[in-house]
Amino acid sequence: MTNPIDQTIMNRRSITNFKLDPVDTDEIIELLNIAKWAPNHHVNEPWRFLLFVEAGKEKFVQAFLDCASKVNGAPSPAALNKAEYFRDIPLHLVAVISEDPRQKQRDEDMGAVSSLLQNFQLAAWERGIGMIWRSNDWIYNPVFREALGVQPGEKIVATMMIGYPQTVPQKRDRTDIREKLTIIKE
Ligand SMILES: Cc1cc2nc3c(=O)[nH]c(=O)nc-3n(C[C@H](O)[C@H](O)[C@H](O)COP(=O)(O)O)c2cc1C
Repeated sequence: MTNPIDQTIMNRRSITNFKLDPVDTDEIIELLNIAKWAPNHHVNEPWRFLLFVEAGKEKFVQAFLDCASKVNGAPSPAALNKAEYFRDIPLHLVAVISEDPRQKQRDEDMGAVSSLLQNFQLAAWERGIGMIWRSNDWIYNPVFREALGVQPGEKIVATMMIGYPQTVPQKRDRTDIREKLTIIKE
């Protein structure tokens, strides 16, 4: 028997095809305020977020174009197509963490922000809002980082592209966990 949270976890899908309908900024703030209740060792809250809305989305798109592949110094047709696609997505959220030089703390911070982002995806899904977590190469690109004002000592974890789903993809099945589980009884 499954309960509602089980269903949300299993039914959520990554969305790439969005409606043009706007998503309310206040609702995203509300969802992030829920998502922040993720487990977080020492509750140091290592994250910050950039939310690109309305005309501000162009800053995100330009940052992408600045570091996209070029043909004769201009963005390639593929990059321009992608930029158009990004312009039509209602919201772009960039998640940034402070990058602790100590590995243990760095790993913990990645675990904590990943938990927050999954909370965010699930809470949003419950309200009919879809998104995709993207970790494309550009998040590591100094040109992209600088265009968004990401500081040395900070790391971009994800760009979340957010909107109401136009279509929901089929789920890609997951392996029965018994194949990944070792039970030690003695
Ligand atoms: C850390 C992380 C990075 C991801 N990066 C990308 C990405 O760069 N591009 C992409 O299309 N999907 C990305 N995804 C989404 C996965 O492709 C998606 O979760 C997977 O295909 C399973 O689909 P589902 O989320 O609908 O179950 C990422 C997911 C995670 C957790």
